[in-house]
Amino acid sequence: MATGAPTILDIFQEIKIDHDNIRDLWTRFGTGGSTTQRLALANTLVREITVHSEAEELTVYPMFKTKGMLEEVKLDQDDHKRITTLIATADSTRLTNPNYDALMKEAVEAFLAHAKEEEEVHLPKLLKQLSEQENTKLTQDFLKARAKVPIHPHTFAPHTGGAAEKVALATGKVQDAVSEAIGGKREYVDVAQQHAVLH
Ligand SMILES: [Fe+2]
Ligand SMILES: [Fe+2]
Repeated sequence: MATGAPTILDIFQEIKIDHDNIRDLWTRFGTGGSTTQRLALANTLVREITVHSEAEELTVYPMFKTKGMLEEVKLDQDDHKRITTLIATADSTRLTNPNYDALMKEAVEAFLAHAKEEEEVHLPKLLKQLSEQENTKLTQDFLKARAKVPIHPHTFAPHTGGAAEKVALATGKVQDAVSEAIGGKREYVDVAQQHAVLH
């Protein structure tokens, strides 16, 4: 492999990494394990779904709008709203609750159905309209947003990708820190695939 070659940034690739990490975490969650291991997997699923969805809302969906994909934005924002509510419900339920697995299943399956539609329909349609420069910039923005958004679901935040969402997500980020300070630091597992590193 050539060394020193610049990393080619591609939005589909980086979104697919998140989707695949979530698929992998869900498979691992289904294989059982101790309560501690399952809790760490569940925490990671919640974090990855939340971070991924919010980063898309702030960067990728506004690009859908710029390219006239208004129907897709509406469908995807509605999906995210439903997924956030489902994942927040599962996240606020104790792992030992008999309903826990069913709640998590409903949330993750809703996410995976949405991810499939993004990969097969919405993102290919967007990519056809993106120049190489636009793709690079969008990917940089998406990766930067991933680092800034909250890691716990906040159902009060709008899903419209505008200024109101940015303000709400900043509040959510503070609430995440408070909730981990009061409720104890959450344990997480490693994800299988890593994102491109921005230089
Ligand atoms: Fe999405
Ligand atoms: Fe996605």
